[in-house]
Amino acid sequence: MKHKIAPSLLAADFLHLQQEVEMINNSDADWLHMDIMDGVFVPNISFGFPVLEAVKPILKKPMDVHLMIVEPQKFIREVAAAGAHMMTIHYEVSPHLHRTVSAIKDAGMKAGVTLNPHMPVHLLEDIIHDIDMVLLMSVNPGFGGQTFIEHSVEKTARLKDMITRKGLNTLIEVDGGVNMQTGKRLLTAGADVLVTGSFVFKSSNPIQTIKELKNL
Ligand code: DX5
Ligand code: ZN
Repeated sequence: MKHKIAPSLLAADFLHLQQEVEMINNSDADWLHMDIMDGVFVPNISFGFPVLEAVKPILKKPMDVHLMIVEPQKFIREVAAAGAHMMTIHYEVSPHLHRTVSAIKDAGMKAGVTLNPHMPVHLLEDIIHDIDMVLLMSVNPGFGGQTFIEHSVEKTARLKDMITRKGLNTLIEVDGGVNMQTGKRLLTAGADVLVTGSFVFKSSNPIQTIKELKNL
């Protein structure tokens, strides 16, 4: 399967959100990645459900929602109503992860689980069968434009081994500091979906940049 590209709206020009979403619609992007932050789990606040709701009617690609918030289980209904295709929550804030994953799927969405850079992939041994995607953070969550953490390449390969060994087809998405070089290495290690924020939106020709990432 050809890998997917999920540009992160966090790096877009919020004053011209409609043009930015139309650019995504006209590009080779597979999904639009939307980062919700609460200022508690991560040291930043991004945007919330009203922005997802505003984007929903014009977006022609699946919405990939990454929640960097405590108690994400409280907002499953809101995320589904905002039009999310994939709801991804953090392992670190989910003591009843199996219950939350089941509730996300019952709400009609795909379920993803995210690991922070220091969290080992073996933590997922007993939940990986139940989820559609693992999101590996390749920066500490909270901000766009950070430097890629090198260890993420080897970690991606270890997660891919686990998924293959179990005969699953769980997707691996990687988020943070992705560009042509880091993206290529992640794909070689087994990544299926690349999230890219600043590398796409701050480039002089985002449509062309997305095309090049898609052709990696
Ligand atoms: C960071 C977010 C990312 C961010 C990536 O906490 O989860 O999705 O937008 O931005 P870049 O690609 O600039 O590192
Ligand atoms: Zn993200």
